[in-house]
Amino acid sequence: MESSTLVALLSSISQLLLLLVLSPNPSTDSSSPNHAFPAVHHFLSSQEIAATLSLLSLSRKRKRARLDSSEPTPPAQLGLPLPLPRTPDSFKTSFRMTSSTFEWLCSLLEPLLECRDPIGSPLNLSADLRLGIGLFRLATGANYPEISRQFRVSESVSRFCSKQLCRVLCTNYRFWIEFPNKTELESVSSGFETHTGLPNCCGVIDCTRFKFVRSNGVDQEEVAAQIMVDANSRILSIVAGFRGNKSDARVLKSSTLYADIEGGKLLNSDPVSVNGVPVNQYLVGDEGYPLLPWLMVPFVDAMPGSDEQQFNAAHSRMRLSGLRAIDSLKNWGVLSIPIREEMKMAVAYIGACSILHNGLLMREDYSAMSAGLDDYSVYDQSSQYHRDNSSLEESSIERKASVIRNALATKAKEFQESIFSTHSSSLVSLQSP
Ligand SMILES: *[C@@H]1O[C@H](CO)[C@@H](O)[C@H](O)[C@H]1NC(C)=O
Ligand SMILES: *[C@@H]1O[C@H](CO)[C@@H](O)[C@H](O)[C@H]1NC(C)=O
Ligand SMILES: *[C@@H]1O[C@H](CO)[C@@H](O)[C@H](O)[C@H]1NC(C)=O
Ligand SMILES: *[C@@H]1O[C@H](CO)[C@@H](O)[C@H](O)[C@H]1NC(C)=O
Repeated sequence: MESSTLVALLSSISQLLLLLVLSPNPSTDSSSPNHAFPAVHHFLSSQEIAATLSLLSLSRKRKRARLDSSEPTPPAQLGLPLPLPRTPDSFKTSFRMTSSTFEWLCSLLEPLLECRDPIGSPLNLSADLRLGIGLFRLATGANYPEISRQFRVSESVSRFCSKQLCRVLCTNYRFWIEFPNKTELESVSSGFETHTGLPNCCGVIDCTRFKFVRSNGVDQEEVAAQIMVDANSRILSIVAGFRGNKSDARVLKSSTLYADIEGGKLLNSDPVSVNGVPVNQYLVGDEGYPLLPWLMVPFVDAMPGSDEQQFNAAHSRMRLSGLRAIDSLKNWGVLSIPIREEMKMAVAYIGACSILHNGLLMREDYSAMSAGLDDYSVYDQSSQYHRDNSSLEESSIERKASVIRNALATKAKEFQESIFSTHSSSLVSLQSP
């Protein structure tokens, strides 16, 4: 059971490295900083089994959810002990969600949160209290002594409930982060095209870093997470658990996302023609990434008024959704400050917050979303310190990518001009009697 749960954590596409981390198997408890990495590679090789198992656990879960929702009147009381006042604002600050999302989540997670108490000593806590404790840790980053004061439970119960919530989310709700199928990808790319006129963009890729402090309380380290998002900042793929000093490009090349795209398993729909140039499905990423036929990066030193500059402008508008997702993840208290736990738990927090991020978007609950649409680059500067300028790509690949990027640049310019002319003709029509 344990091992099937573990395997189910992995799917070929939404690759959460945290699974091994959440495994209750004591052998992953080694304090060696390196142990996680070989284990990841081992488990990543069992992808096909994983996909099958995850479908099974998915259908079980759906059945359960239907049963729950068929109950006539779901009890809406929350057993939150004082001093947490039950106002809309307190839900947002304590849990990063509205009270109705909290209740919805509680009804989904209840059977899972209650089923794995420590052997021989049941906690005797209601599901909403368990969820409240776990979410409070994620939302505020409060340490265990603070949580135990707030909720009047012991520190070990606070710790248990926090881990349990992460485990349940990362095991059973991993499917909230799923790579879109072909049909869904079409709507992802039209989301980007609406804003920029550039067709066939399937996502923004970015990499960020979270700090954590090892249990000796001294060594501060960073863990890198790579996300791919759609135009609404929904996470489509995430991989976390790389050392923070690994460059963005190297994180990409170590990810199965890269292998799957290079191997033609993803982004493999027919190209669209842009001014006669076939343009395959592609992602956009910042200067830290290599230019590839499926990965568009900005032009360096674009001249003002040029097609290249129009492309760069469209490109940075598209990238905003990635920056917004990263900034939103960092809105979760536990990810906003150095995480004072082992690396595996840090990775589990990244996974849990990412899964919640998508869950909230699904419900159109924007409580945890970063608000502004201004210059996010001031918030996330971690990537710029992790750039590789070595050109690892063969020049023929780069030439092919350049042809595509040039065609898109012309398109960006045309789009900009069409907006301008629509805008001026509407001005004209406003003025006419
Ligand atoms: C939970 O309740 C059971 C039975 O009522 C009791 O034996 C157990 O000690 C309680 N556990 C805790 C942690 O209080
Ligand atoms: C893609 O996903 C959508 C929504 O999840 C589903 O309705 C559709 O049938 C899927 N299409 C394919 C080709 O699998
Ligand atoms: C990253 O840090 C680890 C240990 O701190 C070190 O072994 C490794 O060489 C570093 N990698 C790079 C690319 O600097
Ligand atoms: C990148 O370029 C800078 C300046 O051109 C150089 O000093 C640095 O060593 C290069 N880094 C790598 C990883 O090649």
